[in-house]
Amino acid sequence: MSALFTPFTLKRVTLRNRIAIPPMCQYSAQNGMANAWHLSHYASLARGGAGLVIVEATAVSPEGRITPACLGLWNDEQAAELAHIAAAIKAAGAVPGIQIAHAGRKANANKPWEGDDHIAADDPRYWETLSPSAIPFGQHLDREPRAMSHADIQRLQADFAAAARRARDAGFEWLELHFAHGYLAQSFFSVHANQREDEYGGSAAGRGRFLLETLAAVRQEWPADLPLTARFGVIEYDGNDEQTQQEAIALTQSMKEQGLDMLSVSVGFSTPQANIPWGPAFLAPVAGRVRREAQIPVATAWGLENPHHAEAALAEGHIDLAMIGRVHLANPNWPYQAAQALGVERPSWVLPAPYAHWLERYRPN
Ligand SMILES: Cc1cc2nc3c(=O)[nH]c(=O)nc-3n(C[C@H](O)[C@H](O)[C@H](O)COP(=O)(O)O)c2cc1C
Repeated sequence: MSALFTPFTLKRVTLRNRIAIPPMCQYSAQNGMANAWHLSHYASLARGGAGLVIVEATAVSPEGRITPACLGLWNDEQAAELAHIAAAIKAAGAVPGIQIAHAGRKANANKPWEGDDHIAADDPRYWETLSPSAIPFGQHLDREPRAMSHADIQRLQADFAAAARRARDAGFEWLELHFAHGYLAQSFFSVHANQREDEYGGSAAGRGRFLLETLAAVRQEWPADLPLTARFGVIEYDGNDEQTQQEAIALTQSMKEQGLDMLSVSVGFSTPQANIPWGPAFLAPVAGRVRREAQIPVATAWGLENPHHAEAALAEGHIDLAMIGRVHLANPNWPYQAAQALGVERPSWVLPAPYAHWLERYRPN
């Protein structure tokens, strides 16, 4: 019996297996609107057999986009396009999820394949970036952001809540708050970005306040019987890792008390000076610690594309869901190949019937 191909139930949602496709920006939108690219991309990922497909970081406000080509959910027209994507994912048998986000001081960048750096101030696509403190990320993202006022904080928390409401109305059944990767919420938590002297900075409780309040605002809008999750960087690999993990686990416990159902454990990416130990399944033991100590279901990504590694991370109790990202860009039918590799009975039936029926006895030469 394969752990990877065992269903997973959270609230009233059941995933057909433990394969989740994590959010992956497509940098292909205009004015935050999804289009034919996004619809076919997400439909094909869902047809490939994953249990959960999470739509990429979708900005809660225009200045929260990583690039001018990122998706948004700050108006109803954007929600109407995303509703087609949610329906297509669901029609293929996967659960439709979406990640809502604000990129903070890493916003207003060029696409990764067009430089990945901040857009120049004299470019018509320039906008002001926001962060807890006026501290740049550094390296290629060296622009100084504006330190947020209390009014900015309240507006953005209301924007997160409104985006959650639109996601719900668009038919998404799984919501992920982007509290990771050096974007706005992670920046509030991180001493690399947050040097505030008010109640949103200082102690771990102060640095966690923005995340907890945002979660509480979203919880008001998101249905109680659907999964509310967050992606959160619990480690920076900056030499201060034990303290960061302890603070992150304590904050995760508080988020759980506020109604968080699951944590997608990730890296903080708050400083370019990190020394990340890239390698297969490197984050699985960190996720396992969060799972044990915060007593909450967890997912993680990063190098789980060998089906045996994903299977082991699940079977050893490190994670509840395996996030399988980039390899799905190479092969949307990765779950079918994983089922074959793990000896699942009738692996073709990981795929929808119009594909599975023909592949069951077909062995290409
Ligand atoms: C093209 C691309 C876009 C990404 N966009 C997002 C995103 O929108 N939100 C997010 O939390 N992570 C994002 N990530 C990180 C992935 O979700 C994932 O964690 C990463 O690819 C590692 O998993 P993998 O080794 O299975 O690819 C992105 C990664 C890639 C390659």
